[in-house]
Amino acid sequence: MTDLCNNPSRRDVLRTLAASAGAVWLSPWRVTWAAQTGDANTLRLLYYTDLHTRLEWDTPIALDRAAESMNAQKADLSIAGGDLITDGFQSSANTVAPRWDAYMAMHRRIRPEAHPMIGNHDLVAADPDDGSPASDNPRHEFLDRFDLERTYRSFDAAGYHIILLDSIEVLGGDRRYRGYINAEQMEWVREDLSSISRDTPIILGTHIPLLTNFTQATEGATIANPFHRVVENNRDVLAVFGDHNLALVLQGHVHVDEFIRWRGTTFITGGAVCGRWWRGAWHGTNEGFGVITLRPGRIDWEYIEYGWTARRPAHV
Ligand SMILES: [Fe+2]
Repeated sequence: MTDLCNNPSRRDVLRTLAASAGAVWLSPWRVTWAAQTGDANTLRLLYYTDLHTRLEWDTPIALDRAAESMNAQKADLSIAGGDLITDGFQSSANTVAPRWDAYMAMHRRIRPEAHPMIGNHDLVAADPDDGSPASDNPRHEFLDRFDLERTYRSFDAAGYHIILLDSIEVLGGDRRYRGYINAEQMEWVREDLSSISRDTPIILGTHIPLLTNFTQATEGATIANPFHRVVENNRDVLAVFGDHNLALVLQGHVHVDEFIRWRGTTFITGGAVCGRWWRGAWHGTNEGFGVITLRPGRIDWEYIEYGWTARRPAHV
């Protein structure tokens, strides 16, 4: 699988064949599907996730290239899917401050400026490994950097209602965290939805996936997801949207480019800017980001690789 996806000649052949046939389906990196987007306007959405910003292995150069490639897409709206920095959860604020600085330098370059979701790595000092005290509010750094009041919120763009959730619940101890949408957010989502029409197409963002086939594809068909890989109360979350038009769910966390269609809703897991945590491809997904074009009745997804060759030594 990795060989196939990393083989540029095969990829080029697929693209050429698809282009010459005028096909709707193009390649494993590009797909078009019918969607209940109603009369909402065309929206070109940049979706990038899982950067795991750090300073080693020339990764700031990679982020520079990624930003350049993203800006070339001329998006109307940008959303960042979380894990903007690496290892905040178990590190002190001082340790990760340079990583935040490096990410923010990239963030300021992206046009238009991205709406960020929080990922598990973006919590700071939730459970420090160095024995320093845990933070009273591990979300403080994220909120402060982006001048936000809450990690979950909603806004409207081009006829779409966009909801970004905070899918991390800190557990502490050996379990550290789980994927979970807490009661406070569930109540807020209900309230938020009560103010929009049932036809309005909704884009929902959650760092930890509501639905993914990652575990079954990589570990075995009968293997259950661990509590930190998916949102445990996913069915409750989806049930809240039952009477609404949930067109698209944007997910991150597992670093693969994945596409699931379930009951009219499309779930996209958006790969990773850092690939396999800066070691190259992860289960066939190279370092990249997504561009989604939403049109009346149709959505396009393309996973765009920005051409990074990993410089992380194999032994670290
Ligand atoms: Fe991640």
